Amino acid sequence: MIPTIVYYLVPTIVILISVRKYRESKWGIGYEISKELCKRGALVVMACRDKQKALRAINKIQRELSTKNLVFMELNLASLSSIKAFADNFKSKFDKIDILVNNAGVSFDDSSNKVTEDGFEIHFGVNHLGHFLLTNFLLDKFISGSRIVIVSSLLHQKGNIDFGWVLTNLFRNHTRRMLMYFALIIPAAFLFMRSPKQGAQTPIFCATDPSIENESGCFYRDCRKFPSKVQTCDAISYELWSISEQMLSNKGISLNTL
Ligand SMILES: NC(=O)c1ccc[n+]([C@@H]2O[C@H](COP(=O)([O-])OP(=O)(O)OC[C@H]3O[C@@H](n4cnc5c(N)ncnc54)[C@H](OP(=O)(O)O)[C@@H]3O)[C@@H](O)[C@H]2O)c1
Repeated sequence: MIPTIVYYLVPTIVILISVRKYRESKWGIGYEISKELCKRGALVVMACRDKQKALRAINKIQRELSTKNLVFMELNLASLSSIKAFADNFKSKFDKIDILVNNAGVSFDDSSNKVTEDGFEIHFGVNHLGHFLLTNFLLDKFISGSRIVIVSSLLHQKGNIDFGWVLTNLFRNHTRRMLMYFALIIPAAFLFMRSPKQGAQTPIFCATDPSIENESGCFYRDCRKFPSKVQTCDAISYELWSISEQMLSNKGISLNTL
């Protein structure tokens, strides 16, 4: 016989966990990475497209950690000119970069046909090309021991959208039909989804852990090396690099001159 208290206790715990996860999900993985790096003494530049939202995040971290070590700088990865302006602005203010975390990403329905300011398909343009250009623009600010962390997804293995396991606002751009579909799955999946804080642990590990300071070009998952089916130095990677260079060159940006 199950004691009556269990009937009250279990739903209460489930509701409390759900409310906490829901509240945390508002801020995303980038917020948690910034907060943790700041906590460890880094000066964190939050490169974001929405100034008001970024300042709210910065204020929240500053209040919680009693620190001033966070700076906002405007960056829209869906705009090549914004990336250039950000890089110029950054270089005029800072001498070096110890850690670059390429975290920003978007997820839209395939049918949305969204493109960036420069006409690139939105996922390719923001999630890949934007970071590719930004990283190349900033290369001369890296020093020995600097790290570049690229937040990826299991999608890189599957070749189609991975509706993943971290509860954030990443899927806000999907149509109502898709969201209805998720609404049927999410109640069950909700309790098993990771919070942004949990989702941030592997990027933080990659950014800071001394045990991997000599490793490069690897995938990590759950703070461990992940045996991805995809190789990082195969012919496809080189082809992607060269196509990316060509696409930027078509827009008048030559990486050779960076
Ligand atoms: N959540 C998951 O389950 C999951 C699974 C696999 C991989 N990931 C990856 O994890 C990373 C973080 O995602 P998240 O889950 O934390 O989602 P999120 O809360 O939606 O965060 C994405 C961030 O990217 C920023 N961003 C989007 N477009 C941008 C642009 N054009 N320029 C500058 N910033 C832009 C967003 O800025 P705004 O706040 O202005 O929108 C937001 O801060 C992404 O790369 C995502 O692909 C997430």
